[in-house]
Amino acid sequence: MTSAWELLLPAASAPARARGRALRQALRDAVRSGRLAAGTRLPSSRDLAADLGVSRGLVTEAYEQLTAEGYLRSGRGAGTWVGEAVRAARPRARDLSPRSSGDLADFVPGTPDLSLFPRSAWAAAQRSVLADLPHEGLGYPDPRGLPALRTALAELLARRRGVVADPERIVVVSGVAQATALLASVLHARGMRTAGVEDPGSPQHHALYASAGLGTAPLPLDDEGLVPGPLYASGVRVVVTTPAHQFPTGIAYAPRRRAELLDWARSVDGLVLEDDYDGDFRYDRAPVGALQGLDPERVAYTGSVSKSLAPGLRLGWLLVPDWLADDVVERKRTTDLGHPTLDQAVFARFVERGDYDRRLRVCQRAYRERRDALVAALDEHFPGSRVTGIAAGLHAIATLPERYGPEEGFLARVAEAGVTVRPLAAYRHGGAGGGPAGAGPAGEGPAGAGPVGAGPVAAKGVRLVLGYAHLTPGRIRAGVERMARAV
Ligand SMILES: Cc1ncc(COP(=O)(O)O)c(C=O)c1O
Repeated sequence: MTSAWELLLPAASAPARARGRALRQALRDAVRSGRLAAGTRLPSSRDLAADLGVSRGLVTEAYEQLTAEGYLRSGRGAGTWVGEAVRAARPRARDLSPRSSGDLADFVPGTPDLSLFPRSAWAAAQRSVLADLPHEGLGYPDPRGLPALRTALAELLARRRGVVADPERIVVVSGVAQATALLASVLHARGMRTAGVEDPGSPQHHALYASAGLGTAPLPLDDEGLVPGPLYASGVRVVVTTPAHQFPTGIAYAPRRRAELLDWARSVDGLVLEDDYDGDFRYDRAPVGALQGLDPERVAYTGSVSKSLAPGLRLGWLLVPDWLADDVVERKRTTDLGHPTLDQAVFARFVERGDYDRRLRVCQRAYRERRDALVAALDEHFPGSRVTGIAAGLHAIATLPERYGPEEGFLARVAEAGVTVRPLAAYRHGGAGGGPAGAGPAGEGPAGAGPVGAGPVAAKGVRLVLGYAHLTPGRIRAGVERMARAV
């Protein structure tokens, strides 16, 4: 039994603010795992507090809370025992979410369904490339990428995303991450020291600029996109944006804002980096064409197969304005002497054969179904919630009614139940709501479903970013149900 108390020691040395929660969680774990067997009598709160070196109030509170949850029972007179019901509750909890078979329900956004990867079509493209590729095709590639792939991409991106795509201006890269890093490094060499980033936004952007020696200026969004006033006031000359489906709020930039963004770029002799990270997935609205199509000299456009095929392929593209093209290509060359030839050739073949378009259609159908499952499950288990950002992409924003708040408590209970979710606040500059204050993001844009103006990130209610594309409808329903039972 002593060892069971030892299990509680790490919790006792948690930081003061988290100590109570850590102690409750450690006790729960000890009971669930059987280290504290049903019927075991617990030490008095005074003794346990002394053993652990914590206040008696903390132990009393933990006993009371776990008694209320059924892990412990208090007997007649003084005394607390491990409850009998706990063992029986474990299989029952699993039965209620059979599809997750006890696994964590993971709603963290960013990954497509990797089980949909078209293995046989990819293998066929690989075979055909290996059969055809001349020996000299295995030498160092053009640092911009194979001509066949750049030509295929130019056609694909012009057709699907409305970009102005000259194969000469395309650089094949290992993803949006490398495209951002290359540009950041070129801009740094030209004297830029700060880049504007959307707030809330992708933590990747900040990290990538930082690695090239650039600081980032968080810029506020409203429900139409980046707010022009703070953008002008920031003094930056480059800004990275996700105008087709803002990450993470899901808004589509309003046409007016797109025009204003380009006006800004022209007025400061600057650059917009358009991250079209999930540009291929549109459900209820006409695709919003890429910003780059409106002014290819002021917009660098980047995308990758990370959401459409698999992030592990590390394959993407960057379309650069003329005035930056030579520098970016040179930077790519000195970084890695070009992208792996076979991967490029296979992807080119995959696109040329129409396999890529077919794959996008399959995923589009699957993800739409999953999105609908998420919206329906939230409607059923969290009535009164607002789900926004759903017209496109691989994730949605759920704003739960205030009665589920405060957010910290909600997240702790959900995590205890084995469900992983990210709050919108985690995407604020500085993370977890700790960044500089800005105007809050908003809900779905004009072309999307639902009303606009979801209010500031720091609102009292619970606001979650829920990735759904990697989960089957059954797992989505089970995860939302599990979340609802936890709260
Ligand atoms: C906003 C955003 N853009 C792009 C990416 C993808 O980067 P890459 O294409 O390098 O995989 C991510 C990945 O999570 C992202 O969150």
